[in-house]
Amino acid sequence: MSTTLDTTPSDDLGVPAARRRSAELERSIRERPGRFRALTGDRPTGRLHLGHYFGTLHNRVRLQNLGVDMMVLVADYQVLTDRDVADRLADHVEDLVLDYMAAGIDPDRATIFTHSAIPALNQLLLPFLSLVSVAELGRNPTVKDEIAHSRQSAVSGLMFTYPVHQAADILFCKAGLVPVGQDQLPHLEVARTVARRFNSRYGTASNPVFPEPEALLSAAPLLLGTDGAKMSKSRGNAIALAATADETARLIRGAKTDADRHITYDPVARPEVSSLVLLAALCLDRDPHDVAAEIGGRGAAALKAAVTDAVNDHFAPIRARRAELARDRAHIRRVLRDGNERAGAIADATLREVRAAMNSLY
Ligand code: TRP
Repeated sequence: MSTTLDTTPSDDLGVPAARRRSAELERSIRERPGRFRALTGDRPTGRLHLGHYFGTLHNRVRLQNLGVDMMVLVADYQVLTDRDVADRLADHVEDLVLDYMAAGIDPDRATIFTHSAIPALNQLLLPFLSLVSVAELGRNPTVKDEIAHSRQSAVSGLMFTYPVHQAADILFCKAGLVPVGQDQLPHLEVARTVARRFNSRYGTASNPVFPEPEALLSAAPLLLGTDGAKMSKSRGNAIALAATADETARLIRGAKTDADRHITYDPVARPEVSSLVLLAALCLDRDPHDVAAEIGGRGAAALKAAVTDAVNDHFAPIRARRAELARDRAHIRRVLRDGNERAGAIADATLREVRAAMNSLY
């Protein structure tokens, strides 16, 4: 981010501090993973792509496998922040669950659930809204950015307040860890503020109701889409986790490169070529400089062939598992029903505590 005269300290979203804290947290997690509960989620708006996989999915599976108690939210109400109607919602929800499970989220160890099935989570929104001011909501940089890019003619109340709803997503299960990307840091600040204010208004110092959740920034490599812009489902430049080997080959063949035939890894000067190199390196678990050096003067066509092979080899077992799971939709719905039941019991218990703290248990 450039430093211009009007750059305020909050413009870096506290990223360097969050990075340092995340490294400390990683050490504590490795020591005693069972002490931690983590919550993350996605909006069900379509299939996940390789950017999601290497950015967050992979990290969630790692935490689950270390023994962290993982809560994975399919944030269906949050779909309605920037559109009037959630199209094909049930399909998108099932696709998301399939992507999770194919990538290695194990419903016997992790809890996969949806907003709309957890009334007590949603009810927390009401007291939480009383803890933040309209001015604070209006300053959230991620929401400001989303409003600026929204194609809707009017900003809905849900768009304006969803970070508070997201605080309920995190606090209903008292998650201490929220593995997220940088853009979510302002929302995490809202959750921490809500927890702190609730505790000071309704709790006792020795017995706070909510822990303050912390961001766990993943060292997410930035994968660009095939057009050189950020990989995103809405831009049509993404390779889906569930893409076939042929589709993958076609998408990579069409990817943007540059005029320099000699392949190098230089993300600043050569973003498109470097993103392809990085994608191969991530799939092969190798250093991107080595991958680039190996291709060297053989040019973009050789690079694309190598990337295609690396992606298709790495994702073959994941895609096979996804296809297998997709054959039994009843099983997917059962996974969600179980997850919703577990999350619902946790939310009911927290809401009871909240009502007791607020003197509203009648
Ligand atoms: N806002 C997140 C995104 O767009 C999704 C999300 C909803 C989330 N609730 C959450 C992420 C709670 C972390 C914690 O990616």
